[in-house]
Amino acid sequence: MKVRLFDFEREILTIGEEIKQGIARVLNSGRYILGPELEEFEREFAAFCNVQFCIGTASGTDALFLALKALDVGPGDEIITAANTFAATALAIAHTGARPVFVDIEKSSHLMDTALIEDAITKRTKGIVPVHLYGLCADMDQINSIAQRHHLFVLEDACQAHGALYKTRPAGCLGNAAAFSFYPTKNLGAYGDGGCITTDDRHLYNRLILLRDYGRKDRYYHEILGYNSRLDEIQAAILRVKLRYLGDWIEKKQEIAGTYNVAFDNINHIKLKLDKGSTHAYHLYVVAVDKRDELKKYLNEKGVETLIHYPVPLHRQPIFSGAKGLPDLKNTELRATQILSLPMHPWLEDKEVEYVIDIIKGFYR
Ligand SMILES: Cc1ncc(COP(=O)(O)O)c(C=O)c1O
Repeated sequence: MKVRLFDFEREILTIGEEIKQGIARVLNSGRYILGPELEEFEREFAAFCNVQFCIGTASGTDALFLALKALDVGPGDEIITAANTFAATALAIAHTGARPVFVDIEKSSHLMDTALIEDAITKRTKGIVPVHLYGLCADMDQINSIAQRHHLFVLEDACQAHGALYKTRPAGCLGNAAAFSFYPTKNLGAYGDGGCITTDDRHLYNRLILLRDYGRKDRYYHEILGYNSRLDEIQAAILRVKLRYLGDWIEKKQEIAGTYNVAFDNINHIKLKLDKGSTHAYHLYVVAVDKRDELKKYLNEKGVETLIHYPVPLHRQPIFSGAKGLPDLKNTELRATQILSLPMHPWLEDKEVEYVIDIIKGFYR
């Protein structure tokens, strides 16, 4: 049996016709950039995230970068974040000229350890970028209260967290702004690159509308130093179709995660994350295991696809190894040697989930 980590073939079998209609609508409209599909998608996704504004961008990396620019981040500033994330979180910070400052994670949740944030704050600290890793929200009450005390902004890296809830509130409305990625494998993925920023802050919104479109107020008048980073009409039309299914897809993933959780609960070699009262959106289902590399190889031999998100923490990457925090990230380093992402998509069949479980149980027997 072959069990995939994600399965686009099955996705297209389900929604392919609606997607083709959406694309045809755009082709026939003659509007390909900054048109009605984007406007509608931005309205719909803002409502989904319980915020007033959504600004489509060319990618999640750009969403983070442009949000940081709109928040006036630049050379000399320090931004606190985690090191067990996709490189783009820190790349976006570094591209503004600011310095990413990494704090360690909690072993239980794999999320930023909020008890360590205040120690990392200096006179240069301007903001915190918590990452809602794998689809589980960071401890936003703690993070927001630290930010308020120290006059810092909070930018959620929600690139993996479409549809995740923190207590009862969705990712995207939990800080000053949030950045999402629509990379194809994400819970809400385009069929190409895409991203967006969500916010309730009208001033940020007004800046971001200019920043993503060459800094121009109208066709011929460039008010600020802007960029070209827009979510195109075809991707917006695709995302509008998929947004209608997102709730059902996440529910299905939560069901599958429930089956995995029960099955793995009494295997000592597998450490599961705690949900901490939040609603995990399961962009990825990640376990921390003993003998990770051997297990990965064994699963691969049996036809089960897995990946590691992420094997090299950012403070160990050549580009960031000069960043502060290098010696202290023990949990981040430990988990990088243990984590494994198992197959997780809404079209997994019961027999495939059971197959994955049986193989893992067999490996540790
Ligand atoms: C946590 C995180 N941040 C940022 C990004 C960057 O998003 P994109 O690939 O759309 O640029 C991603 C996804 O790839 C991500 O997972």
